[in-house]
Amino acid sequence: MKNEILERSNHENWELLHENTEAPRTYFMPFADIAEASIDTSSRVQYLNGEWGFTYYESPDLLPSDFISRKSEAAIPVPAVWQNYGYDHHQYTNVNYPFPYDPPYVPVENPCGVYTREFEINSLQDSIYLNLEGVDSCFYLWINERYVGYSQISHSTSEFDITAYVGVGTNNITIAVLKWCDGSYLEDQDKFRMSGIFRDVYLLKRPKNHIKDYRVLTTLDDSYKNAGILVEVDCPGDVECILFDIDGSEISKSYTKNGKASFAIENAHLWNAENPVLYTLLLATENEVIKQRVGARKVEVQGRVILLNGKKIKFKGVNRHDSDPFVGYAVTKEHVLRDMRLMKEHNINAIRTAHYPNASWFPQLCDEYGFYVIAEADIESHGSVRKIGGDWKANYSEIARDERFCDAILDRVKHNVLRDKNCPSVIMWSLGNEAGMGPSYEKAAAWVKQYDDSRLVHYENLYSYDDYTPDATNLDVYSRMYVDVAGCKEICESSEHTKPFILCEYTHAMGNSPGDAEDYQEVIEQYDCFAGGFVWEWCDHAVFCGYAENGKAKFHYGGDFGEFPHDGNFCMDGLVYPDRTPHTGLLEFKNIIRPVRAVLNEDNSVTFVNKLTFTNLKDFAIGEYTIERNGIKIASGNFEFGSDAFKPELPVMDEGTYTLNITHIQKVDTALVKAGHVLGFDQLILREGKSDFEVPTSTEAEVDFIVEDLDVIVVGQDFRYVFDKRKGIFSEMVKDNRVLIEKPIEYNIWRAPIDNERNLKEEWYGAGYDRTVVRVYDVEVEKGEAQVVISSELSIAPIYLQRTLTIKAMYAIFGDGTVKVKLDCAKSEHLPMLPRFGLRMFLPKIVCKAEYLGYGPYESYIDKRRSSSWSRFITTASDNHEDYIRPQENGSHWGCSEVAVTNSKGFGFTALSEKPFSFNISPFTQEELAEKKHNYELEESPYTIFCIDYAQNGIGSGSCGPRLIEKYAFNEENFVFEFVLRPSAIAE
Ligand code: GAL
Ligand code: MG
Repeated sequence: MKNEILERSNHENWELLHENTEAPRTYFMPFADIAEASIDTSSRVQYLNGEWGFTYYESPDLLPSDFISRKSEAAIPVPAVWQNYGYDHHQYTNVNYPFPYDPPYVPVENPCGVYTREFEINSLQDSIYLNLEGVDSCFYLWINERYVGYSQISHSTSEFDITAYVGVGTNNITIAVLKWCDGSYLEDQDKFRMSGIFRDVYLLKRPKNHIKDYRVLTTLDDSYKNAGILVEVDCPGDVECILFDIDGSEISKSYTKNGKASFAIENAHLWNAENPVLYTLLLATENEVIKQRVGARKVEVQGRVILLNGKKIKFKGVNRHDSDPFVGYAVTKEHVLRDMRLMKEHNINAIRTAHYPNASWFPQLCDEYGFYVIAEADIESHGSVRKIGGDWKANYSEIARDERFCDAILDRVKHNVLRDKNCPSVIMWSLGNEAGMGPSYEKAAAWVKQYDDSRLVHYENLYSYDDYTPDATNLDVYSRMYVDVAGCKEICESSEHTKPFILCEYTHAMGNSPGDAEDYQEVIEQYDCFAGGFVWEWCDHAVFCGYAENGKAKFHYGGDFGEFPHDGNFCMDGLVYPDRTPHTGLLEFKNIIRPVRAVLNEDNSVTFVNKLTFTNLKDFAIGEYTIERNGIKIASGNFEFGSDAFKPELPVMDEGTYTLNITHIQKVDTALVKAGHVLGFDQLILREGKSDFEVPTSTEAEVDFIVEDLDVIVVGQDFRYVFDKRKGIFSEMVKDNRVLIEKPIEYNIWRAPIDNERNLKEEWYGAGYDRTVVRVYDVEVEKGEAQVVISSELSIAPIYLQRTLTIKAMYAIFGDGTVKVKLDCAKSEHLPMLPRFGLRMFLPKIVCKAEYLGYGPYESYIDKRRSSSWSRFITTASDNHEDYIRPQENGSHWGCSEVAVTNSKGFGFTALSEKPFSFNISPFTQEELAEKKHNYELEESPYTIFCIDYAQNGIGSGSCGPRLIEKYAFNEENFVFEFVLRPSAIAE
């Protein structure tokens, strides 16, 4: 006899999406009375979270016929994903489906978790509803061994009226969850594929005549001053509606007539993300009260501009998944609030719920704390694009064009809209992500528009094919992902476009990234039609797998579970690490989207541009400033933002470099961010000048040399340097009888590729940049008046390829041991951009402190340096290492004019140059960083690695999308690297 699941087989039935579920409705928790509503504690909700019995089967085929009544073999918490409890295995896949592409069929090896528990019912007076807010991917439900129903849609609530199935006393419930169903074809989002009951489960006890659903619409008059609130209720009887002001005082009461009530508010408090004020509406029926927060606001499009309450808004957004390394999908309010606090602290004002409705209460938190939300339906079917043969766009859209999927697509779009329709934070509905284009999405867009034209409709994946041009009439924005900066400009300027433009994904934040956010921001600011973008993405996805011996957390990504297929570390592409430590990319983004920007005027006064839309800076922030000379503070003060330009009193300036550094500080407490928080900063260069260090042209001290077969030995009073004639560089340097370098110095063009070099690195490996050798053609030594000059001609070339660089190198060594370096480089034709060029030194391990004048304290590169300012900083090799989970190039400092790398007593090197250079100190070699797959596997070098670079290639965001912007590519054909290397004596 077949078991009941195989018998029913809903999970491979196109036509059956839900069985016996209630119609989707707005998310709310009912209360028994006003008193309960006022303290947010409901006696009408009975949670069934906690420990459930659990039996795992590898396939529904293996379920015994009596599985519904069997005792569970084990226990598991709810909500949770079963992969975190040792069942099945983790798998991270992006585009590729984790099963054969054969809709509606799913593999017979379809993991199945049977959940059981008991619950008590005290009375049958009320209707009893069972709610499951999220189950991946589908489930069959029995109560007291009677079949109740079925549902498939992982990220939306399924509600069942179970009144007829329960009795007073103890009841039991069995839920069989399958990992895959035909709905999985619509859930191909780029994420770990986790399973089980991952959101809350509860019973609602509701009076027989209760509100089925309701809608609150707000309108604003033309002056954007007075608001109307219209309430529509689906309820058998009349409903008492009580409206409270933002301070909690009652405004007025009225009863619905024919299901409708309305309120007029003069001089309304308007909701926006900067000041998310909410009214409260109570909907009271006999024995039940529902509490709904109401935001008065209006979203509209004028021409190509998105307006909120009549003002142009810009999204400084991120894409957010419900994802946590410890609990997977089963995030709590605490997790979400931690994200929201971090977002607010980093000036983020918008969230796209990629690519499914985030937790049920998520948009309500956005209402309360202030975020603009693009609420996306639980849809992605990207994997169809892998089909072999035919036109790829048509393959991509196969599901969108397949009528048999149409109901499921509409069902998902409706669930999304109906759940969150009363949330003011939601200003756009998204039909889904990367699901191709076809009639189903046209129908979906039409349904959304006719149901709710108070918001905008978004869908990015618009494709035309030979036989089909999609109808985009019901889409309100022109949305794209990963368009390069130049392309964005073109879109803004093109008259072909008639809709507001947004980037629903951009500036891919994978690893050491993004490097182009400022360039995008400039274009966003420049055009009113460009409403901003959403960084891909908020967090790194990983699974915590215990601690390594060195104490580091083991965060595992795709491939670490032996799964097939997988997409490696492509899930580690967030602005925060899995544990929510900010990446330097988040700090970068924060300052790029800072709420205020300073402009230096010719008379050295400063004008401030307020980047907030609804907030007066004067009320919100204060400024602190310092004036620095060559990175050292010489004056400071604070000021209020006012209408006049700010003019600090300036010192008399000599030939040093003077900067005016202004820190913007939040003045008031807000819900998530306290007064005193630094919102951002500006650094203005008052004067560019010289460093205080003079290169010696003559010294008292003597210097001499001896030429040997292989080496040139240069000797001064207290130093001895060995120049290796075959390497064209120093192989030993000793000062005060102490070793300065532990190994020969190296010419260095390689770096551990960053994630953004996913494609570029193939060109680099192809050009042999990771395996060059040096060939010296000629060495000449001369003695000048005060120095020994070693000149040589050499090249760097990879095995089996032509030279990469030809270098005329000159080293002038002075009597105090100072070396003046000049490397005149010519790059061969036809080669790709270089990772870097400079010298690499292996210093004694204890020489690990760096004091520098340049861009810090965070890692900085030509295109990723907005979180850093130009000043004087101190760091150590360990502190300077940015611990990307997949190790890669990190920790460079751009725009330096000076760096001293020493031990604690000052013994080591100082490097200086008139032309700014980059440097890096690290406990790890670039080879080690390139080789290891996880940070916890890294082994320190026995030396401190000190790299001084003429240049490093830019960072960009090329792990997904555009190539590095040309101006940031290290593509020079001829360049000269000049700097001074001065050993410093030990301070006794
Ligand atoms: C986009 C997609 C995202 C993610 C990103 C790459 O195409 O919408 O879900 O996969 O690429 O990280
Ligand atoms: Mg995708």
